[in-house]
Amino acid sequence: MNIVLMGLPGAGKGTQAEYIVKEFNIPHISTGDMFRAAVKDQTPLGVEAKKYMDAGNLVPDEVTIGIVKERLSKPDCTNGFLLDGFPRTVPQAEALEVTLTELDKDIDHVIHIDVAKEKLLARLTGRRICKQCGATYHVVFNPPPKEGECAACAGELYQRADDNEATVGTRLEVNIAQTAPLLEFYEQRGLLRNIDGDRDISIVFKDISNILRSTQ
Ligand code: AP5
Ligand code: ZN
Repeated sequence: MNIVLMGLPGAGKGTQAEYIVKEFNIPHISTGDMFRAAVKDQTPLGVEAKKYMDAGNLVPDEVTIGIVKERLSKPDCTNGFLLDGFPRTVPQAEALEVTLTELDKDIDHVIHIDVAKEKLLARLTGRRICKQCGATYHVVFNPPPKEGECAACAGELYQRADDNEATVGTRLEVNIAQTAPLLEFYEQRGLLRNIDGDRDISIVFKDISNILRSTQ
């Protein structure tokens, strides 16, 4: 199953992706995670991407499209994939269509997790992530049983560099501007499914899972 997961920063893409990839046994392809790994390793891609990420802006389309194209042609994508946070612009969506046609693949579902922007600032500034396994928590909405420690692996929790109030503001503005034309793009293709993301994490997942299972 080939899935695109959309939503504004903080809508819950990463949180839901963890459950989806486990249930459907497909690779999780997050452009944000790929860029963060490149930043950590100080590769040329990471050095380039960091300038945009630190400011809350999008990494240029040609760079982003290039890394996704390469990733989708890997053998583990043969039986499906979950794209998280890509595409984010109409040119990225158009490039994805071309790439998938070349690979003789299609998108089966576009899931858009919808959350009002007013809720997202608190979600992002309160987010904490496990250094070891990458699990996502929230200091109020999804706290670990032991403060500052991952429930899954006892790893230390940290805050993402772009989860400060100023950068979050820019990220939301930039992404809101790109979202409407992208939703329209997938609506026209009959692929778009909107999910109310302002509910309990497990309830949101139940909805997503039902949609994905209904057409398996
Ligand atoms: P990326 O890493 O994709 O960041 P983002 O889009 O800003 O999204 P987030 O990861 O912040 O949010 P999320 O929706 O995954 O929320 P989460 O599940 O963690 O991208 C980072 C940067 O890379 C971009 O700014 C850009 O520079 C660059 N980039 C990436 N892709 C690109 C592209 N395609 N083109 C160009 N540039 C690109 O949840 C957030 C918090 O809320 C957590 O604490 C969680 O516990 C909590 N939470 C989740 N669900 C719920 C719920 N239902 N109720 C209450 N709390 C909840
Ligand atoms: Zn962990």
